[in-house]
Amino acid sequence: MNSKSKSYWIDSTPETNFPTLSEDLIVDVAIVGGGIAGLTTAMLLKKAGKTVAVIDARKVAEGVSGHTTAKVTSLHQLIYADLLENLGIDRARVYAESNQAALERVANFVAEENIDCDFSRRSAYTFAQSAHGLVKIQEEVTAALELGLPASFVQETPLPFPVTGAIRFDHQAQFHPRKYLLHLAQCIQGDGSYVFEDTRVLNVESAKTYCQVMTDRSVITAQQVVIATHLPILDSGLFFAKTYPKRSYIIGARIDPDRAPEGMFIGSGEEYFSIRTTPDRNSPDENAVLLLVGGGGHKVGEVTDTEKQYRKVEDFARSHFGIDTFDYRWSTQDMVSFDKLPYIGNLTPTTPNIYVATGFSLWGMTNGTLSGMLLSEMILGITNPWADLYNATRITPFVTPEGIKQTISVGMHWVGDRFKGLGISEPAQVEAGEGQLVTIEGEKIAAYRDEQAVIHTVSAVCPHLGCILAWNNAEKSWDCPCHGSRFGCEGGLLHGPAVTDLKIYSASTITK
Ligand code: FES
Repeated sequence: MNSKSKSYWIDSTPETNFPTLSEDLIVDVAIVGGGIAGLTTAMLLKKAGKTVAVIDARKVAEGVSGHTTAKVTSLHQLIYADLLENLGIDRARVYAESNQAALERVANFVAEENIDCDFSRRSAYTFAQSAHGLVKIQEEVTAALELGLPASFVQETPLPFPVTGAIRFDHQAQFHPRKYLLHLAQCIQGDGSYVFEDTRVLNVESAKTYCQVMTDRSVITAQQVVIATHLPILDSGLFFAKTYPKRSYIIGARIDPDRAPEGMFIGSGEEYFSIRTTPDRNSPDENAVLLLVGGGGHKVGEVTDTEKQYRKVEDFARSHFGIDTFDYRWSTQDMVSFDKLPYIGNLTPTTPNIYVATGFSLWGMTNGTLSGMLLSEMILGITNPWADLYNATRITPFVTPEGIKQTISVGMHWVGDRFKGLGISEPAQVEAGEGQLVTIEGEKIAAYRDEQAVIHTVSAVCPHLGCILAWNNAEKSWDCPCHGSRFGCEGGLLHGPAVTDLKIYSASTITK
């Protein structure tokens, strides 16, 4: 049986149908992006008496927040030993405490609002399978304990394969992210507050006491604006140069409930896998359980044969859990910050009314929730002692090894990719179901031939900052290797920071 190419979270919840913005509007705060950061910010502001408008270019809770593994935990694989060494104990403790608080913020929303979202307390584990990995785990346990986290070292886990050791955090949580977020969205709508879908924000203009959010439909005027679009659509904060996009792959497979491991798990080392289970609400069997395994992560655009990445994850599930049938497969994209800390706060030092949240570095459920907590307090004028650590205008260490590598990589893509496809000048050479770069009269074209043999040709130049796109064969999309914008095979924008579709060429223009 072929697995469904869809996130289980999306497949097990109804489609949303919030209105599009049809006329100019005034609210206290406009929030661009309907993922966990945007919706949490909006929810907290509305509870504090503000009117808000959440604006999503597509559908709420369907982007990164609808494609996550949805672990709500302060155990972020291996981070605390590094933070302790690089930031010192006080600042490392802020990261620990604030992420624990975000976990409890989610738990409190679930309890206060009685949200039916399969929320359950679980232990979270990071495990090693080598002697070298074991040393790292032991260092992490020592650091986490020093920071007051609920950590312990274990040599046995509920996993059905041996590990050399693991760090365990107790009383963490997992949930169904879309059930949770759709509930928040419903609470936000009404009483002078709004949720808009299929409304693309093109720009934000900032005056002294108010901002104007320019969309492809109408204009929203607000005192403050929050940009929670994964990577900010506004370039002035240079967040595209302080983060890099990472793509990873998830499979969902039915597992015998008696063999389902109790807990949430992630490996360590270069090639690692993330593991959790969830009740399968699409099954007529009320005890059915899905095993979710994620992995195969890589920088966007660096792997063209993305099918291979799915196979890696499936092979792991097969060999470690005896899975032979896969029900779901989907992929997701994260923005990783070079110093491992998210950016939460003002877009720039000169835009005090525009805020951003980005760089969640694969841990968006707590970092996104934390963004909502901090941004809502900043807008309400409440001083939070955690805010300084995440200051979005902090000096970014471009000189970290990761930062240098990424800067070089973007430069190489910008220059080197311009020479890709020079040998191909005829879209007709593209195979069915495949995409390829072609050069026609000096112009870079992205050509895709669909299963009915129709060739779709669009510009291969990313409208964000001009990098050349790369074909993603598993998702049938055009992905930008520089900052992660993605486009459908017919040129429609799937994922920013770009805010426009690709230029479409007609087939006749191309082939004459
Ligand atoms: Fe920045 Fe494409 S996303 S150039």
